[in-house]
Formats: sequence, structure tokens, C-alpha cells
Amino acid sequence: MGCSWLLILGLIQIVAHSLEIQGSGEEPIPVIAHNVTGVLEEDVYLSCEYQGSAQINKAEWKRRISSSKFKRLAGFSNGELFSRGDFSKPDSSTNLTVRMKVSSVEAEGEYICEFQEEEENPFGSVFVTVIAKPDIRIEVNSETINDTHYQLVSCSAVGGRPMPQIIWLVGDRPPSDFPFTVNESKTLHSNGTSTLISTLRFPTHLQDEESVICVVKHETLPNPKSTTANVETYARPNVTIKAEMVQQGGHDSWVVSCISSGGRPDTEISLALNGNNEVERESSANSDMKSLSVRLPVIEYEGHNITCVFKHPKFLYAESQRINLPTFYLSGIQFRSEVGSNSNEFLELQEGDSNIVISLEVTGNVPRYSIICKK
Ligand SMILES: *[C@@H]1O[C@H](CO)[C@@H](O)[C@H](O)[C@H]1NC(C)=O
Ligand SMILES: *[C@@H]1O[C@H](CO)[C@@H](O)[C@H](O)[C@H]1NC(C)=O
Ligand SMILES: *[C@@H]1O[C@H](CO)[C@@H](O)[C@H](O)[C@H]1NC(C)=O
Ligand SMILES: *[C@@H]1O[C@H](CO)[C@@H](O)[C@H](O)[C@H]1NC(C)=O
Ligand SMILES: *[C@@H]1O[C@H](CO)[C@@H](O)[C@H](O)[C@H]1NC(C)=O
Ligand SMILES: *[C@@H]1O[C@H](CO)[C@@H](O)[C@H](O)[C@H]1NC(C)=O
Ligand SMILES: *[C@@H]1O[C@H](CO)[C@@H](O)[C@H](O)[C@H]1NC(C)=O
Repeated sequence: MGCSWLLILGLIQIVAHSLEIQGSGEEPIPVIAHNVTGVLEEDVYLSCEYQGSAQINKAEWKRRISSSKFKRLAGFSNGELFSRGDFSKPDSSTNLTVRMKVSSVEAEGEYICEFQEEEENPFGSVFVTVIAKPDIRIEVNSETINDTHYQLVSCSAVGGRPMPQIIWLVGDRPPSDFPFTVNESKTLHSNGTSTLISTLRFPTHLQDEESVICVVKHETLPNPKSTTANVETYARPNVTIKAEMVQQGGHDSWVVSCISSGGRPDTEISLALNGNNEVERESSANSDMKSLSVRLPVIEYEGHNITCVFKHPKFLYAESQRINLPTFYLSGIQFRSEVGSNSNEFLELQEGDSNIVISLEVTGNVPRYSIICKK
């Protein structure tokens, strides 16, 4: 074709190849074109304008498909504007600005715009860079290894070009090393895009934030895109042991209860009686509280220690609480009266005494007693 013009035009930098060779710098800039970046599936404008004054007979956009072959895409020929495929018709024979749909990554590359005037074939070149917006997905999975529950939050940026970047935020901060691990896997697709999957993993009991945030940074996103995933958290339970005395059919019993409240997940409770008696255990649970209790005859269990053992992921070690059931004793009974002598054993009344108030003082820790008076 005998092109005598080779121009690579930046925003400011303009190089006119033939002018350089000829050592002349006075001729006007004939063609202006700029490199562009196009987003996959979107439109991009390729602009190329002839700035000279000569008559243009033919003008076209073309792409090199081999060392000697070009593919014509859009332009002006035989007095008419033409276009094909993903291109729109240009404005005029001197303004080859066209709209191109970026339908695949193959659109990336060099495009040449060339004008034919009487003497010269001035041309420009535009490099199109294709980028693709990734699809962002997030999902939470869990696994239990050696009794430890882990959560895995996977953030995927699918079909991005170039490869996106993923960072995590836990409580507005990037997760520190422990107890978090981050694993990335990258896949290159045949369509020229790639997928990045970043997986944040942590043991549930060591992490207290209710959500984690995946931040994707990519050329196609004006601002980094944040996606939030809600994660499961554990709550430390309040645990306690208590003993209450109840009466049933004239017999006194202790009801000893191991109580866990506000824990998540459920606390594992066991109750140990020292002695190997088999006792019926009763458990109850509602959304916030879980308990395990036993009913023990007071007399039989005097002085016994009862232990509750609570196991929960939030406890480093099983937590135990013990209660000592009291030994009851009645250490003394004392008569008190305004007459006669006070004695521990008896009260002697004289003939003719009347309106005498007798009081009995009992010392000890028995929960209740009955008194029988005989004359
Ligand atoms: C246009 O892009 C090509 C390929 O990346 C590069 O060689 C050239 O210098 C760029 N031109 C301008 C003006 O930036
Ligand atoms: C060239 O054509 C484009 C698209 O129609 C237009 O936006 C632009 O202003 C034109 N340039 C000139 C110098 O007319
Ligand atoms: C699970 O426990 C076993 C025995 O304690 C140990 O050999 C193994 O390495 C543990 N596995 C993991 C994944 O920690
Ligand atoms: C490219 O291929 C990947 C994997 O098959 C797919 O997820 C993605 O949507 C494709 N992108 C385009 C633009 O076709
Ligand atoms: C990261 O993921 C790969 C593939 O799933 C796995 O083989 C590797 O063990 C993981 N690394 C960590 C530190 O979890
Ligand atoms: C545990 O008990 C404390 C003090 O009694 C109370 O402030 C706290 O809210 C309780 N926590 C739960 C989870 O019930
Ligand atoms: C109960 O615990 C107390 C305090 O540790 C201990 O002195 C006592 O011997 C225990 N009683 C029984 C019956 O084991």
C-alpha cells in the first residue's frame, strides 16, 4: 500500500513518521486516534479523524488477520458509508468515529484506520483493550473437623478480565492471621476471562462478628464492591447449679438442677452424684435455657457433693460447678417460761398456775420440725 504516514498518537505525543524522515515538521497532523478500553458486552467508540484538507476517496477501519491480510470493518467506499458485524457506520469520510460492540475478548487488539487521498494514505492505529466485569457471588459453608466447627465463606469473582482482586473485612478490619485463613483459587477460562475464588475459613467459636465482607477490586468497578455474608456465631452460656427443697407425700427431697442459659449452640450438661446410685434425670430445654435435674431424698443425700459439668465450644475446658447438700442437725431444745425453772428437759408447773406462756427454742438447721406436747 505504500503508506508513508505512521502515526502513533497519545494524548499529547504525536509522531509523524514520514515527517520525521523528511525532517520537516510544518505539515498539519492528518489523523488523530486514541487507544481505548472496552468492557465486554458493552459498546466502545473507536475514533479516528482525518485532519487534512485533501479529498478523501476511500476510508476504512481494518484489522490485520495475517501478515498480509486485513479484514475491512467499516468505512467509506464508492461514495457510501458501510459497516459490518459489531460496527456502526462512521459519521463521514473524514470522521471515522464508529461504535463497536465488544462481543468477545477477541475484540482486543490493534485497529487501523486508513484514508486514501490523491497522493498519500495517511493512517492511524487504535489499540482496544478488553476488560470484563466479574459476577460476584458469596456463599457460606461449614465443616466439622475433630469436633471443631469451621465456617468457610467463599467469595467468587466469575468471568473477570483482568483477574480481579479480593480482600476480606471482618469487623471493618482485614482478618489477622489467627484464627483466619484465606485460600485463593484462580481459573482461566477459554473465553479469555478468569475466575477468582477466595475462601475465608475460621473456627466458629473464635469469631464473634455476625457478618464478614468480601471486597472485590476491579477495573470495571468504579468503587470496590463490598458483599456481606452473615455467619453463625456462638454465645457463651451462663451456667449455674442450684438446689431446692420440695415436699412430696410427707417426704423432703432436693431438686438439684444444672442450668445453662443464653448459650449458642446448646450446652452439653452432665450431672455427677458421688456414689453410684441410679437416679432419674429430668431435662428440659427452651430456646434460651437448658437444664438437667435430679430429685434426691434429703436424708439419703445429706452431706453429698453434686457436680454439674458443662461443655460448650466457648469454654476452653469443661466447666464444673459443685454444690454440697447440707447435713441436718437439731442441737437442742430449750423451754422458756415466766414460771418455774428453765431446763432443757422439762418444765414443772405448780398447782393453780394459769395463763402461762411456754415457748420452745429449737437450735439447729433442720428445714422444719413438728412439736408434740403431752401432759
Ligand atoms: C496504544 O496501545 C499499544 C498497545 O498496548 C501501545 O503499544 C501504544 O503505545 C499505545 N498508544 C498510545 C498512544 O498510548
Ligand atoms: C465525529 O463523529 C462523532 C460521532 O458521530 C462525533 O461525536 C464527533 O463530534 C465527530 N467529530 C467531529 C470533528 O465532527
Ligand atoms: C484430628 O485429631 C487427630 C487425633 O487427635 C489428629 O491426628 C489429626 O491430625 C486431627 N486432624 C486435624 C485436621 O486437626
Ligand atoms: C466465560 O466463561 C466462564 C466459564 O465458562 C463463564 O462463567 C463466563 O460467563 C464467560 N464469560 C463470557 C463473557 O462469556
Ligand atoms: C487451598 O485450597 C486448595 C484447593 O482447594 C487446597 O488443596 C489447599 O489445601 C487449601 N489451602 C489451605 C491453606 O486451606
Ligand atoms: C449472664 O449473666 C450475666 C450476669 O448475671 C448477665 O449480665 C448476662 O446477660 C448473662 N448472659 C447471658 C448470655 O444470659
Ligand atoms: C464435698 O466437698 C467438700 C469440699 O471440697 C469436701 O470437703 C467433702 O469431703 C466432700 N464430701 C463428699 C461426701 O465427698
